[in-house]
Amino acid sequence: MTTPRHVAIIMDGNGRWAEARGLPRYRGHMAGQQAIREVTEASLESGIEWLTLFAFSTENWRRSSEEVATLFDLFEAVLKEETPTLVDKGVRVRIIGERSNLPPSLLKAISEAEEMSRRCNKMNLVGALNYGGRQEILRAAKRLLQSGEDATENNLAKGFYLPEMPDPDLIIRTSGELRISNFLLWQSAYSEIWVTDTLWPDFTKEDFVRAIEEYQSRERRFGGHS
Ligand code: IPE
Ligand code: IPE
Ligand code: MG
Repeated sequence: MTTPRHVAIIMDGNGRWAEARGLPRYRGHMAGQQAIREVTEASLESGIEWLTLFAFSTENWRRSSEEVATLFDLFEAVLKEETPTLVDKGVRVRIIGERSNLPPSLLKAISEAEEMSRRCNKMNLVGALNYGGRQEILRAAKRLLQSGEDATENNLAKGFYLPEMPDPDLIIRTSGELRISNFLLWQSAYSEIWVTDTLWPDFTKEDFVRAIEEYQSRERRFGGHS
């Protein structure tokens, strides 16, 4: 039973969680912080090396400016609150996505979290923030053109946000949606996908362990046969 090296999660359903309780959507985003703690703990306990969390897509700008601003404030607060504990646990914090149009105070919190955790080597916790798979591939293609190197998969991958990040073995999506929503398009070519109806704020360590166990029962063929 192999432990996945990289698990990536599409944290979805915060809005529905809040609406079901008669609360404003941002309360669902706030409640998601506990689920982040749960999956980080569970990943550390399982010996997973990379955990990527999809927090904001390049398409999430289509939401109201209030919701976008609240999300950015929340990301900043979460980075500030969680990083010291993460560092104590040996977790390195990294962010992938387009940074140019993020608010300066959030950018500062990102740099500080990355700097503080720079030497941590137990696990990588990657936040995908203002991230789009198409945008990442396009960025890598532009870099490859500029480099003049041969157009190979490896040379293209050098232009990804974290070239050393392995492809996700398992992608988890909460809230029952059966789509990839522009997440890690290139890297998910052979990822196993596991979807649960549970909404992100309700997601627990036990749900995570269930996903890992189901992953371990699958046969990955990568185009070959057993
Ligand atoms: C996921 O929850 C968080 C982000 C996309 C930022 P949603 O806000 O998409 O929640 P639903 O899908 O509307 O329930
Ligand atoms: C995907 O969720 C993005 C994140 C979880 C950050 P969305 O709620 O934005 O996805 P769609 O719009 O339902 O595909
Ligand atoms: Mg959603």
